[in-house]
Amino acid sequence: MREGIVYLDHAATSPVCAEVAEHLARDLVELGWNTGTRYELGLTARKALDVCREQVAHYLGCETDAVIFTSGGTESNNIGLRACCGQLPGGGVLWNSATTHPSLAGPVETLDSQWEVVPMPVGPWGAVDVDGLAELPTPDVVVLEWVNNEVGLVQPVDDIAAAAVAANPEVCILVDGAQGVGKLPLPDMASLTVFTFVGHKIAAPAGIGGMMLKPSLKLTPLTRGGGQERGWRPGTVPLPLIRAFCNALEHITALEAAPFGFESFDGGDVPAPIQDPGGSYSPCITLLNVAPVEGEVLQHHLEEAGIFLGTGSACSSAKKSLSPIHKAIGMDAKASRCTVRWSTFPGQDPAELDQAWRVLVKQWRELKRFF
Ligand SMILES: Cc1ncc(COP(=O)(O)O)c(C=O)c1O
Repeated sequence: MREGIVYLDHAATSPVCAEVAEHLARDLVELGWNTGTRYELGLTARKALDVCREQVAHYLGCETDAVIFTSGGTESNNIGLRACCGQLPGGGVLWNSATTHPSLAGPVETLDSQWEVVPMPVGPWGAVDVDGLAELPTPDVVVLEWVNNEVGLVQPVDDIAAAAVAANPEVCILVDGAQGVGKLPLPDMASLTVFTFVGHKIAAPAGIGGMMLKPSLKLTPLTRGGGQERGWRPGTVPLPLIRAFCNALEHITALEAAPFGFESFDGGDVPAPIQDPGGSYSPCITLLNVAPVEGEVLQHHLEEAGIFLGTGSACSSAKKSLSPIHKAIGMDAKASRCTVRWSTFPGQDPAELDQAWRVLVKQWRELKRFF
């Protein structure tokens, strides 16, 4: 991490940590062989790849063969949706989450008319209303995110999966795990068909990710090529990046993701977290209500103090429309603009967080006078 800054936008991406970078630099030079070749260097690379696959399978609690490496979350979600829907060439019913990341919402939008896309009911804070699922038509495919990237809400994946399987034991369930992997105890993989993950959210480089994809699925890949990764993600396997992912996973799982308490100080008013008091949230992501100050204005003032945090989702900030989770929790465009996203990395120094919080509150109190 660059010296002298406080980085609070880990939900967007986490810079590669020093330990991972050091190993990666060595691997790029010493292990950059093609895992498909038959000479000794390639066989060594192949063995190293097998070890990585076993490590990820062990972490996820799935079969080794089920682990597929890809370039990241967007690719995994696209392949995953294709895999689930590809099992039913004649189409069917898809239970959709209204609050997924664009990398999942986008491909769902492009499904053809043979698919009936049914939104799952949500409560006032965006969590899927599990009891309400019984009212929906029987699902063939279910898609949802585990941890929401903008507000940190943790969806009740196990309960949703149980309800879907009870309705249809053959259902395919795709869960986007990008924001929870390495940071929270995992949902149960047993009833999931696909579970996707991303390297750059855990301090591995951007460009590596993957998924658990049930080996029993009929092959319906998005791209065709040399058959690598069981044919689901053809292309030369980026072994050094995969090893970096595994190093990052080992590193992050040894750290504790402690929630930061957004307490008052000096007895004054402070920005409030936008959270259901009884809900389940990632300790790494908190949306703060900074009204009447616009989030972007506060963001730039903090930047001058060397503190970097997000406003909503980095991935959707290029689009000016209201984010789906902001909409789901009843925010209008103005309320949505008056938010900042504070997102941390497990093990981040509590003193650093406390200092950043004090600066944020001070800046906010000063800026309030101008709004
Ligand atoms: C929940 C979620 N899913 C998927 C992605 C996409 O991952 P990638 O940027 O690796 O394509 C992100 C990244 O922001 C995310 O937060």
